[in-house]
Amino acid sequence: MTGTGGDNMNGPVRSSSGLIHKPDVRITVLFLGVLAVSCLVLYEFANPFEFMPSSFGSSSDSDSLSMLYQQTYKRKIDLELERVLNKASMKGKTVILTTLNDAWAEPGSVFDLFLESFQIGNGTKKLLNNLVIISLDQKAHARCLAIHPHCYALKTEGLDSSSEALFMSEDYLKMMWRRIEFLNTVLQMGYSFVFTDADIMWLRNPFPRFYPRVDFQIACDKYYGNPEDRNNRPNGGFTYVRSNPRTILFYRFWFMSRKTYPGQHDQDVLNKIKKDRVLEKIELTMRFLDTAYFGGFCERSKDFNKVCTMHANCCYGLGTKVHDLKIVLEDWKNYTSLPPNERASASPSWRAPQNCRT
Ligand SMILES: *[C@@H]1O[C@H](CO)[C@@H](O)[C@H](O)[C@H]1NC(C)=O
Ligand SMILES: *[C@@H]1O[C@H](CO)[C@@H](O)[C@H](O)[C@H]1NC(C)=O
Repeated sequence: MTGTGGDNMNGPVRSSSGLIHKPDVRITVLFLGVLAVSCLVLYEFANPFEFMPSSFGSSSDSDSLSMLYQQTYKRKIDLELERVLNKASMKGKTVILTTLNDAWAEPGSVFDLFLESFQIGNGTKKLLNNLVIISLDQKAHARCLAIHPHCYALKTEGLDSSSEALFMSEDYLKMMWRRIEFLNTVLQMGYSFVFTDADIMWLRNPFPRFYPRVDFQIACDKYYGNPEDRNNRPNGGFTYVRSNPRTILFYRFWFMSRKTYPGQHDQDVLNKIKKDRVLEKIELTMRFLDTAYFGGFCERSKDFNKVCTMHANCCYGLGTKVHDLKIVLEDWKNYTSLPPNERASASPSWRAPQNCRT
């Protein structure tokens, strides 16, 4: 996903298109109203798909909200998705998810480096059993099936994700928002997840570093030292989300907010809504993850003894990413090949980013 610097698929960068609108107060107010109704979700949580409020009244705003509910709830239970998630799930119904398109799935590209990181990371190999690849097109799905046990093909109407969607193009935005919608579905199915972009190298098991009992945790492009400070600059490419009624509502609100901020991608919108009082009403707990453990090219994990993940954020272009991520893996191998006593006292530094720096 995109960093402030946009670490994206490919193509030129720069977020917001100048189409910044003031938050649509009406929608927010309506959403708060709907929250009352949404208490029903608490009761329907065990079987959320059957929940569908029959009416919100007669105004057109209510109609559009009602439509949102339909989009969220009136879907068929996806048996294939349930099967894949169930098979990959660790204890406590938790899975690791990533999305993959054709370009990233090519041999020697991002996907291979991603899988290699799990192999050479410390305590990460076993997590491959819990990793589900959400393929966005036919070719990516075929490659996944060939080399990984847990693959799910996400169908998106009217979208050809196999071509490298240009950053912030219409297709790109559609794909990003489709992902938020999909993750909401996963939460509704009762699965908690770690979502990770595939251009994130997993060098250590991140679970011991997550905050216990927090609903929503997210890595940062820029981390200012306090995990609760909403001014931190989150990067949606790495999140840990626990499935519960609060996170389901939050993802729905996030997805709805794309209409309030048209032309913007999910991460920009998250920055807009992260302080919204709706999140207080939901009582969502949120933490920002320290780049000391969850680093990236925007802000690296300096200490090799601490690093869990390294993200090729603040980096544009597929070739550039691949080049620099290879260096990250080499540096890591060099570090882990040191004898343990030397490792603890060594203070190596990353040779990456190189090409990503510009
Ligand atoms: C490998 O690690 C050693 C010890 O930290 C260091 O001196 C050397 O420069 C490293 N080599 C590379 C290529 O990073
Ligand atoms: C990997 O983890 C084991 C067990 O926690 C630890 O003893 C070892 O030092 C770790 N190695 C690295 C490279 O962190």
